[in-house]
Amino acid sequence: MTGKTYVVTGASRGIGLEFVKQIISEGDIVFACARNVSSSKELVDLAAKNKNNVIPIVLDTTKLDTIHSAVLEVAEKAPDGIDILINNAGIGSTLDYNIETVPQEEFTKVINTNLIGTSNVTQQFIPLLRKRGEQELKKIVNISSIIGSITAMDGSRGSGQGPAYGISKTALNMLTRLTANHLRSENFIVFSIHPGWVSTDLGGASAPVTSQESVRGILNKIQQCQPTDSGEFFGFTGASLEW
Ligand SMILES: NC(=O)c1ccc[n+]([C@@H]2O[C@H](COP(=O)([O-])OP(=O)(O)OC[C@H]3O[C@@H](n4cnc5c(N)ncnc54)[C@H](OP(=O)(O)O)[C@@H]3O)[C@@H](O)[C@H]2O)c1
Repeated sequence: MTGKTYVVTGASRGIGLEFVKQIISEGDIVFACARNVSSSKELVDLAAKNKNNVIPIVLDTTKLDTIHSAVLEVAEKAPDGIDILINNAGIGSTLDYNIETVPQEEFTKVINTNLIGTSNVTQQFIPLLRKRGEQELKKIVNISSIIGSITAMDGSRGSGQGPAYGISKTALNMLTRLTANHLRSENFIVFSIHPGWVSTDLGGASAPVTSQESVRGILNKIQQCQPTDSGEFFGFTGASLEW
């Protein structure tokens, strides 16, 4: 799939930075959004070496003004719009909390980033995706987590990242289904995908999946997905996951 234009959030490190590397290796263009571009030496270096394909953009998913100015900048540089939005930015939650102890501030912080931030970004980038026209397939991918699967938590008291994280990703999955339904008639495909347990700052060093493997699988799914995949939940291998 050459000649596509992507927007990726949380591109400063981890899975988001790996998206940037693999997208440009296929000859595509990526607007690499990070809340603090200059603090990511890898992103700055990648952009310097690939001036035509990597455009770093300042965007904090929890700050509407930065999303607004990011959209204006992308619109100026990509006047015909974008093909794919990858909502990757996210934060973990504090492992020490359980459902009895998790404080309000924890819910507020995690849900604000993982759910509301994603919704903010999607709302503001939809017009740039629509610019591609009704005939073109447009895609929105929400990076979710198996920890947001209610079925996967059967019998569990919550695993991995603490309750606020899992709940934020469950809600993100509902956002995915509703966004898919909202945009279905306009030739959009919208889905949630679990990247695997990936060795990043968030996943930790003992995670079994590398960001390279994870992103290869997700990009493959993005390229192969069909309209019937819209509103659904997948793993990075492309297999369906239970909600
Ligand atoms: N790693 C895993 O095992 C795993 C498993 C399931 C799901 N996921 C999901 O995969 C996505 C990427 O995770 P990761 O493992 O790559 O984590 P990571 O290494 O901690 O990177 C997180 C990225 O999100 C960015 N970010 C956080 N809050 C942001 C905000 N308000 N605005 C803009 N960017 C923000 C960070 O930017 P800064 O550098 O500025 O902090 C960073 O670029 C997340 O949505 C995560 O929930 C990861």
